[in-house]
Amino acid sequence: VASAANYFRLEMAAVPENVGLARLAVATFAANLDFSVPEVEELKVAVSEAVSNAVIHAYPTEPGRVVVQCRAVAGGVLVEVADEGIGIEDLDEARKPSVSSDPERMGLGFVFMESFSDEFHVESAPGKGTRVRMLKRVAEAGRATGAS
Ligand SMILES: Nc1ncnc2c1ncn2[C@@H]1O[C@H](COP(=O)(O)OP(=O)(O)OP(=O)(O)O)[C@@H](O)[C@H]1O
Ligand SMILES: [Mg+2]
Repeated sequence: VASAANYFRLEMAAVPENVGLARLAVATFAANLDFSVPEVEELKVAVSEAVSNAVIHAYPTEPGRVVVQCRAVAGGVLVEVADEGIGIEDLDEARKPSVSSDPERMGLGFVFMESFSDEFHVESAPGKGTRVRMLKRVAEAGRATGAS
């Protein structure tokens, strides 16, 4: 069983080729906890959506960074994705399904993040940045019962 004090912090350029890196890092971390394969898949989607938002929306003019942090907590994992970009003016509106500042997009990123996590928080300040926090719990049914 993995150490309860385990964590990592990954600071990256907010560029598309790093989305896969973040997804793989979180999936590898979660796989060392007691998450089931479908739960890890859900985490991968949630992290991809959060990092993609930092890549696509946060830095319209100059390249910036995104920091992904992951921490093992009792019964699950805490994932935080933070950027220092333009932020979101109306967060309540942005979180609604099908709301996007880009007509080419689905506007479903926040919906996926929320539905694939057990606790979901977003903080955003215009001109300062956006921080998403997600807690994913290991489902009782999927948890290994024996010592390993
Ligand atoms: N990190 C961010 N920085 C700035 N704006 C953001 C950020 N994340 C989200 N937003 C704003 O919130 C809106 C909704 O985000 P959401 O991820 O739900 O949809 P989307 O990214 O537009 O579309 P999709 O995720 O389906 O491709 C975005 O269109 C964007 O305007
Ligand atoms: Mg999105």
